[in-house]
Amino acid sequence: MIDTRDNILEVAPETLAGHGLDVAAIRQDFPILEEIENGLKVAYLDNGASSLRPEPVVNSMLEYFHKFNANIHRGVYRWSEEATRRYEGAHRKVARFINAHPREVIFTRNTTEGLNLVAYSWGRTNVHQGDEIVSTVIEHHSNLVPWQILAAEKNAKLRYIPMTSDGQLDITDLDTIINEKTKLVTFSHMSNVLGTISPVEKIVKRAKEVGAVVVLDGAQSAPHMQVDVAALGCDFYAFSGHKMLGPTGIGVLWGRKELLEAMPPFLTGGDMIRDVTLARSTWNDLPWKFEAGTPSIAEGIGLGAAVDYLTNLGMDKIRQHEIELTAYALEQMVEIPDLTIYGPVDAQLRGGIISFNLGEVHPHDLATLLDREGIAVRAGHHCCQPLIELLETTATTRASFYIYNTPEEVDRLVKALYKARTVFHLA
Ligand SMILES: Cc1ncc(COP(=O)(O)O)c(C=O)c1O
Repeated sequence: MIDTRDNILEVAPETLAGHGLDVAAIRQDFPILEEIENGLKVAYLDNGASSLRPEPVVNSMLEYFHKFNANIHRGVYRWSEEATRRYEGAHRKVARFINAHPREVIFTRNTTEGLNLVAYSWGRTNVHQGDEIVSTVIEHHSNLVPWQILAAEKNAKLRYIPMTSDGQLDITDLDTIINEKTKLVTFSHMSNVLGTISPVEKIVKRAKEVGAVVVLDGAQSAPHMQVDVAALGCDFYAFSGHKMLGPTGIGVLWGRKELLEAMPPFLTGGDMIRDVTLARSTWNDLPWKFEAGTPSIAEGIGLGAAVDYLTNLGMDKIRQHEIELTAYALEQMVEIPDLTIYGPVDAQLRGGIISFNLGEVHPHDLATLLDREGIAVRAGHHCCQPLIELLETTATTRASFYIYNTPEEVDRLVKALYKARTVFHLA
């Protein structure tokens, strides 16, 4: 299974097909994958940090710049009207993508901003002294720090759902952790370190029993699996465009209409108002009430194109492709001596993310060696310092897959890890 061929530039097209996705055809839409670094094609395995963007996304933004570059919601000339139509159309596309109403889809800069919006607007209105906020020990700092600040400001208590030894959320004591004092429960749909998929149904059920609001961090799930916010039963769901083939600088916060309508604005100024006098102001309709100032117009249009691209491929096929790729990788990686893999080894329980450590080799050294082999991975604490501490390490190396990754790239990773054992004198 380990690729021993010297010329790993040449990948037979028939091996790229399968899994329900035509990976060879998909790769044509990503010319960056043809770039050669140090004589090698790059195996881009850092999709958990940010994905690549296909030509239709790039072209949708270029079309805006080339053909109707203007601000939205203001001009009565054709360029502005077209830009408005495309930007609003992107809201409708995203709404369909997650099975929501377009008025409930707020464009933010990224997941981080969406979560902060909820913490500042909903949190500061509804969380009071003695209340409890429940999060988990596996969260990204974006879904931890805003709640720490809110809890400190309101004198509320922050509680955490723990983790099992194989990196899943431990919901044994859920009924105690989420109790009558709980006002808000927040957790990641999929962990960016362990790949673990959270037991949403059970946590939402318990949260609803006590009347708590549920916030889901969908940064790692929205790009990789079918998301239906109505079926999930949560109240807010945040994700980022740049992890799902879209541009940077654009993200989404979905929220239930009745909650969003009752919330005060987060940022204030242009576009989010209905009427302003010197004495007072009133707010615009949803979602504009939460989109103050000139938004990221080209980026919003690009996100719409990304959602079209993903929808055309089919989210179920994407998920299946990643399960198969992850299972293929895990199957080989568990055989590598001195390699510690974090999280469950069952690919069905996780997304296409694998964090690991090779003996005592520092992840940065390992990532540098992998880079020389043309393999782009992430090394560090992945903005999850509390989780990394629980894993009793200081950092991990992380490989994360997406629609354009192939079994051959997994083979290259495995082969390079064996090489690393020799280079770092483990073999
Ligand atoms: C689980 C999770 N939550 C939140 C974020 C923050 O996303 P962004 O930096 O796009 O705001 C990330 C990014 O890596 C993530 O993986």
